[in-house]
Amino acid sequence: MEKGELIYMGKAKSLYASEKDGELISCFRDDMTAFNGEKKDTFSGKGAYNATVSAFFFDYLEKNGVKTHFVKMLDESTMVVKKMTMIPLEIIARNVAAGSITKKLPFTEGQLLNPPVIVTDYKDDSRGDPSLNDDLILALGLLTKDELLALKETTLKINRLLYDFFDELDLILVDFKIEFGRYGDLILLGDEISMDSMRLWDKDTKESFDKDVYRYNKGNVMDAYGKIVAKIEEWKKEH
Ligand code: C5P
Repeated sequence: MEKGELIYMGKAKSLYASEKDGELISCFRDDMTAFNGEKKDTFSGKGAYNATVSAFFFDYLEKNGVKTHFVKMLDESTMVVKKMTMIPLEIIARNVAAGSITKKLPFTEGQLLNPPVIVTDYKDDSRGDPSLNDDLILALGLLTKDELLALKETTLKINRLLYDFFDELDLILVDFKIEFGRYGDLILLGDEISMDSMRLWDKDTKESFDKDVYRYNKGNVMDAYGKIVAKIEEWKKEH
């Protein structure tokens, strides 16, 4: 399958047209950015790690009843996805307080959030991805009331599935960000689910195995990502 014209270049992925109608080709690049692009680097193999992990989770979620844009892998860093109209929302689920929530609100890092907290940010770098409440989502016409309820339920379901999965690997799913898009009448999970878009801590030591390693110079980010990939490979062998 040949890549067509470049349709969109994000901070870590490039989207190309596909020869097949209704599909796109998503290439996970080796670029890594943090703090809205202020920090930038390239790590050989990082795109493959994130694509492999995303493909695994899209497949895992599909098997558990969550509809996603994933079609198939073309190579280790390239996947075919359904062509959607993205909804400009970053939906973040949090099980443990970390990152921006501890800066904006009086939560302590590591504080348990039970029940989990879902926040919705408007995806717009030029505005600093401002937080939206339900009324603003409806007023902006991004979702209907029913769609908003359904997306929150789906996000909680994804959180439960991923939390339990990582729990088995002795990791804590602290938080993650997902995005959805429209595909005909359906709303599907899109974008990626990778170490770039979640926080994962070792259950005992609370060591990070995610993008925070890069953000805050906590060690070798490729080693951290590699450990998650290896744990998932191990899990696959056992299941
Ligand atoms: O920065 P913050 O603490 O709000 O991030 C919450 C979670 O969402 C983290 O796992 C982070 O990696 C992810 N995130 C993301 N893309 C963004 C913002 C947050 O993947 N633009």
